[in-house]
Amino acid sequence: MLITSDDRKIVGFTGQIGYALVPMVARGIMLGPDQPVILHMLDIPPAAEALNGVKMELVDAAFPLLKGVVATTDVVEACTGVNVAVMVGGFPRKEGMERKDVMSKNVSIYKAQASALEKHAAPNCKVVVVANPANTNALILKEYAPSIPEKNITCLTRLDHNRALGQISERLKLQVSDVKNVIIWGNHSSTQYPDVNHATVKTSSGEKPVRQLVADDTWLNSEFITTVQQRGAAIIKARKFSSALSAASSACDHIRNWVLGTPEGTWVSMGVYSDGSYNVPKGLIYSFPVTCKNGEWSIVQGLSIDEFSRKKLDLTAQELSEEKTLAYSCLS
Ligand code: LMR
Repeated sequence: MLITSDDRKIVGFTGQIGYALVPMVARGIMLGPDQPVILHMLDIPPAAEALNGVKMELVDAAFPLLKGVVATTDVVEACTGVNVAVMVGGFPRKEGMERKDVMSKNVSIYKAQASALEKHAAPNCKVVVVANPANTNALILKEYAPSIPEKNITCLTRLDHNRALGQISERLKLQVSDVKNVIIWGNHSSTQYPDVNHATVKTSSGEKPVRQLVADDTWLNSEFITTVQQRGAAIIKARKFSSALSAASSACDHIRNWVLGTPEGTWVSMGVYSDGSYNVPKGLIYSFPVTCKNGEWSIVQGLSIDEFSRKKLDLTAQELSEEKTLAYSCLS
């Protein structure tokens, strides 16, 4: 069993996502209401004082599940013994910047953190990369931590998945919990493909396809897709900061489902190492529909992919291949 009574977490940086995430983890939203946690928070030396302030707040909040807090600027101390690593640290994208602009700054950070995790984390540590470019950062981490099983290194596309659920529920004026089985394919970027072809809605007369209830393919095939694809940029424009509370909440959802399982008949989206499913090139961290059981994810197989979807799956794979090439060029 991965989770023990003194389970440890690592979160990075005193940035907005980390600040939103720590109380959620300490309240049991990530690992359930009965799981005690020890938080390891890592930040860079100029943020050490602020990090200590967050530690003081965590003590002051008197969270019953919180059994300890390690606030450190030492990557080895931060990584030692962790069971779950939520990689929120990175150079943030600012208004007007493309994701590729932050690539070179982030790949070197991920290379260093990979080595520390590989040497010091608990053997079955589960990793989710949140900081952009999330898929490619996860790939770099995987490459530089070869002894961590590739199934344990993932990136966050649950935020996009949740955004897609949110858009459908707003459109249909329904509870978001009544909508399920949207899919985010590919990159956590504006080429991602939010797919509703297999999504359903719970109604008083049973489950109905989203396409049938929305009854507007033009909206589903255009505005819905671009709204989800561009949501991160829209939030940056509005807040002048990238999304934080929704990213933190989605990171909790990602880990909770991975560790505790997905409900029967429901899948979620996770960025995972491609095994070639759906003709996605092997060797990319690509978002697929997955179910989780006993702490393992599996890609949902056998879903039909129409021609419209195929093109979009390929386009986002193409972008990821290009990012991979760019990332390696930044490292050399
Ligand atoms: C988001 O999706 O909100 C973040 O990844 C921000 C970004 O850089 O797009």
